[in-house]
Order: sequence, then structure tokens, then C-alpha cells
Amino acid sequence: MDTPVNAAEPDKTVKANTVKPKTVKIVEVGPRDGLQNEKALIDTSTKRQFIEKLADAGLKFIEVTSFVSPKAVPQLADALELVRSLPPREGVHYSALVPNLKGLERALESGIREIAVFTAASNSFTQNNINMTIEESLAAFSPVVDRARREGLFVRGYISTAFYCPFEGKIEKEPVLAVCQRLLEMGVQELSIGDTIGQAVPDDVRATMAHLLQFLPVSQVAMHFHDTNGLAIENVMASLDLGISIFDSSAGGLGGCPYAPGASGNLSTDALVHFLHGQGIQTGVDEIKLAEASGLIRQVIQQTDGLVEDIGNLEYLGQVTYPPASTL
Ligand code: COA
Ligand code: ZN
Repeated sequence: MDTPVNAAEPDKTVKANTVKPKTVKIVEVGPRDGLQNEKALIDTSTKRQFIEKLADAGLKFIEVTSFVSPKAVPQLADALELVRSLPPREGVHYSALVPNLKGLERALESGIREIAVFTAASNSFTQNNINMTIEESLAAFSPVVDRARREGLFVRGYISTAFYCPFEGKIEKEPVLAVCQRLLEMGVQELSIGDTIGQAVPDDVRATMAHLLQFLPVSQVAMHFHDTNGLAIENVMASLDLGISIFDSSAGGLGGCPYAPGASGNLSTDALVHFLHGQGIQTGVDEIKLAEASGLIRQVIQQTDGLVEDIGNLEYLGQVTYPPASTL
């Protein structure tokens, strides 16, 4: 039976695809989502080398840093310097996270052409992360998106805790959809739906995403999985079955979640690429060169982690304090 389309009903023209994509867009978030959780500061030239190796491996979309408050994320305080040090490369898109107009000013100053704003599907998470309710965050981002679009920037929007929240537990699909729709109305061009604490199972992904894709164009939807329970690849598989073809991942599986003790990091780009190639899906990424990029950053982190262990004792003894790491 045909149902007339109206505002209250799913738009049948953009319903979930059931054809698996043949190519996938990978958004490499290691330099930002991965490194923001590393306590020991990594120098700008190492970050630059890591990013260059990622581009050498064929990654075309690389989120390189955040123009957030350096007090909130000291690791990324060198954002301006880092972006300015990156040579432009044909076909490579660098992007950065921006929390407010001050961040946008810094982003524009750096010359970056793509930004991402970030909110969540649960109020307790946004309060904890950016000190705002969801509604306040949307109000704060509206002028940022507006200005960025007028400057010709590409704007992505992150929706964290789209499946589970560390404070509120299971998140229903309606609030996720509402935030996505508000972001699109605001002018955001790509939505990254996040399983921030890595608790989703494929049935959660199918339930939420099949619903969302009745209303949102699949070409503008990305999935952002963390591998806390080792289910990120299974969740990618469930997403591919819905026709989703944009995935965020982090070289070497960097990243973690300070709200979920023992949680592992982002879905690893290495695992994602290997899995997709095995499925006959193209990514444009060279697995060996990618392993070199991941190897470099893992090695640097292992070295700096030794320092963190030492400082960790001082921290325990009250000699050094770190601001809490943030997560997305
Ligand atoms: N870049 C640089 N400095 C910034 C800034 C930005 N984008 N935004 C705010 N600041 C500075 C202010 O100038 C102010 O500095 P001062 O104390 O020297 O005057 C200080 O940070 C506090 O500013 P305020 O506007 O009161 O912000 P806040 O303390 O409420 O922080 C955020 C709000 C969103 C800016 C901050 O929490 C943040 O950057 N969070 C990052 C969270 C994050 O990256 N999470 C990971 C990804 S989700
Ligand atoms: Zn993340």
C-alpha cells in the first residue's frame, strides 16, 4: 500500500539502501580522536610525520587536530602550528574539530578547509564534555556552522553517544534522529554517528540506523565506532548492509575512553581496511604503508607512555595533575 509522504513520515526517496557499497570513504581520526587521549605530549613534528604517512598510505580524509580550548585538551594545543606545517596534497582533505566561534577563528587562520562540530544524543554527556546541554550546544554551533559555510568550508557534525551513554545507558533512536535533523537544517553536510563508548552490538546499529536512514540521506551518514567490546567490525558489517559507506577509524586503533575504564580505542583503520578489502570493497589505502604509519605512532606512544607511568606516580602523589581527557 502506498502511503503519501508528508513531514511526519519517512521520506521514501532516501530510504536505507540495501545494496552494499563498492567503495568506502574512510575518515582517519587517529591524529585527533586518538591522540587527544594520550597524556604525554607528542611533538608537532611527530604528529606531522604521522599525518604525512597516513596520506602516503592513501587516506584522503584526515582529521588532524582540534581547535578546542588548550586547557581542555593540552595535547592539541599546537593545532594552528600543526595545520600550517602540513603541505597541501592533491586530493587529501584535512579537517579539524571546532567547538565555538573562537575555535573557528583559529581554524580559519590555519587555512584548513574542513571542520567538524560536535554534540551528542545525551544531555549528561554534552554537559560533561563541553559544559552545555544538547540544546545549548546546537544554539552555540549554529553561528559556527553558518559562518563556516559562508567561508566555503565543508562542515561535518559528530553525534556522540548515539547508542549508549556512560551516564544514561541505552539511548533511544528518536533523540538521535532529532539531533541529526537539526544539524542538517543548520547546514552540516556530513553526520558522524558515534558509538562513543563502544557498547553497541549489530542489532543496536540495525535498529537505530534503519530508522534514521528513513529520514536522512545515506550519502551524508558516517559511522564512528569504538572497539571496546571487539564488535566494531561487526557493527561496520551491519552498517554496510544498510548501504552506509563512510566510516571513521583510527590508525593503530589509537584512542580510548576515559569514561569507560579499560576501554580500547577507536576502530582501527588497519583492521577496517583489511576487512573491507577482504570483502571486495575498495578504499584506496595501501595496507603496508598504513602499517608503517600505525607503527610509527605506536612506537612514539610506547616511548612516551613510559614517561606517563613515571609522571603517573607523581600524579598519584599529588605532584602533577592532568585535566581529564575528553572523548568523542
Ligand atoms: N580555542 C582556544 N581557547 C578557547 C577556545 C577555543 N576554541 N574556547 C575557549 N577557549 C578558552 C577561553 O578563551 C578561556 O580562556 P581563559 O580562561 O584564558 O580566558 C577558556 O578557554 C574558557 O572559555 P569558556 O568560553 O568559558 O569555555 P569553557 O571553559 O566552558 O569550555 C569548551 C568550553 C567547549 C571550549 C571546552 O570545554 C573545550 O574546548 N572542550 C573540548 C572538548 C573536546 O575536545 N572533547 C573531545 C571531542 S568531543
Ligand atoms: Zn571517537
